[in-house]
Amino acid sequence: MSLQIGDIAPDFTAETTEGKINFYDYIDGHWAVLFSHPKNFTPVCTTELGYTARLKPEFEKRDVKVLGLSVDQLAAHEPWSKDIEETQGTALNFPLIADTDRTVSNLYGMIHPNASDTFTVRSVFVIGPDKKVKLTLNYPASTGRNFDEIIRVIDSLQLTAKHQVATPVNWKNGEDVIIVPAVSDEAAKEKYPEGWKTLKPYLRVVAQPK
Ligand code: BEZ
Repeated sequence: MSLQIGDIAPDFTAETTEGKINFYDYIDGHWAVLFSHPKNFTPVCTTELGYTARLKPEFEKRDVKVLGLSVDQLAAHEPWSKDIEETQGTALNFPLIADTDRTVSNLYGMIHPNASDTFTVRSVFVIGPDKKVKLTLNYPASTGRNFDEIIRVIDSLQLTAKHQVATPVNWKNGEDVIIVPAVSDEAAKEKYPEGWKTLKPYLRVVAQPK
């Protein structure tokens, strides 16, 4: 059975471009994004890894540790990083696992045998400081992911964790949020003395908490 939201993200130790990493030590109390891509020296993956490297300041702002995974060998990561820098403007600046024996890929269900029994699909796991899986995504090899969306989800998850709010359709950081049903009107009065809009008793909208 694949990993699901709310499950504890399994620990592992793996060879990476930044040396041997134990996952739990690496993420220790931080948010994390663990993502796989199918293969080095391929076009879509090159754009994805370059863009993720460019987002480093955004991940740091949100206290997120990023870890990529490839089933290619470590020796193939360095020359590919040079290509990424040359074509995308940013070299790899986060560890990339060389999961040649597919230990981590299998642990996280990143190989979907009916898509390919050799390569990982484009999986993403957002993991909270409590080591629980908060989001899972699986994209096919031919579709590059939207890493701005991953940042958007992290913003939503972090707001929920801090303020007991939820975020509506297409929400972006700074826009109004939703008071979750578990918060009574009485409790909401204390949390939001400046008030909120009640569109329905179950749909209460409030300015994004700071
Ligand atoms: C790519 O990154 O472009 C790619 C990788 C594997 C299969 C298809 C496309």
